[in-house]
Amino acid sequence: MDTLQGRTAVVTGGASGMGRAFCERFARAGMRIVVADVEQGALDTAVAALREGGAEVIGVRGDASRPEDNEALLAATIDAFGAANVVCLNAGVSGTNGPSWKLSLDDWRWTLDVNLWGVIHGIRTFVPHLLSHGDGHVVTTASIAGHTSSPYGAPYNVSKHGVATLSETLFHELRKEGSTIGVTCLCPGFVNTNIMRSARNRPGTATPGPDAHGGDEAGGGTTRFIEVVRRMIENGKAPAEVAELVHDAVRTDQFWLFTDEVWDEPISRRHREIAERSAPSTPAPRKR
Ligand SMILES: NC(=O)c1ccc[n+]([C@@H]2O[C@H](COP(=O)([O-])OP(=O)(O)OC[C@H]3O[C@@H](n4cnc5c(N)ncnc54)[C@H](O)[C@@H]3O)[C@@H](O)[C@H]2O)c1
Repeated sequence: MDTLQGRTAVVTGGASGMGRAFCERFARAGMRIVVADVEQGALDTAVAALREGGAEVIGVRGDASRPEDNEALLAATIDAFGAANVVCLNAGVSGTNGPSWKLSLDDWRWTLDVNLWGVIHGIRTFVPHLLSHGDGHVVTTASIAGHTSSPYGAPYNVSKHGVATLSETLFHELRKEGSTIGVTCLCPGFVNTNIMRSARNRPGTATPGPDAHGGDEAGGGTTRFIEVVRRMIENGKAPAEVAELVHDAVRTDQFWLFTDEVWDEPISRRHREIAERSAPSTPAPRKR
């Protein structure tokens, strides 16, 4: 997009972590902001901070996994600002960790409902609107987990592979239809956010607390995996750094957006292994 000034950004999962940083960065670019999130308290805090910083902003509470909440989000955006231009389908949860066969159906559904169905509903709701005025860009938040298959994170891996292929498919379709609507598929490595506390927003969770896992006894593979991921996230990139990359990707119409180079080798290796029909080796970040 040549300029973002005066256009409108809608960000799902915009009350925390990367989504909140996207809102702040787009506001600095002179955009009007629609913060969408399921968590009312965090949403109110984010909206107040953006407004205090001088942004034109509204907050819309809704659950990304519900089609009707996506429709309400579009309606609220049009009502407040006339149109949506940059749509960041970013809401996501870490999901439950454990061997794939041990996770409950509720564990699988929670993660796929938010991470994958949230993006599907977002595309079904917002892309026809963007096509109707022809000036827009969709940013989907996938993950390195959309290109690798770490053990003990099956629902998350499945959801993020889904988001990656959906984004790529959408890109091809928009080009085939002669549209100039842009697509960016953001694939972050580890970013220091609240993602490991995702269970706070899980439906049916009585008390928000640390994410449970449906895996093994303490000290087992799942527990070690969660500890490693938690440490990597605590030492991860600042959300503001990722927001800067997203801002630039929207401006330059960049499709794949990775935040780290340490995953390039494992991803390339995976593609080589597929081409050579070899068994997959365990993915791990590598210094260049
Ligand atoms: N943090 C990382 O290391 C990392 C890495 C790769 C991808 N991601 C992805 O980045 C995205 C943003 O996550 P984050 O790391 O900023 O975490 P975060 O927990 O700080 O932010 C996620 C936001 O999504 C909201 N949310 C959760 N369920 C929702 C629902 N059903 N409807 C609407 N909003 C909902 C939360 O309230 C929260 O505000 C997610 O899609 C996540 O999977 C994160």
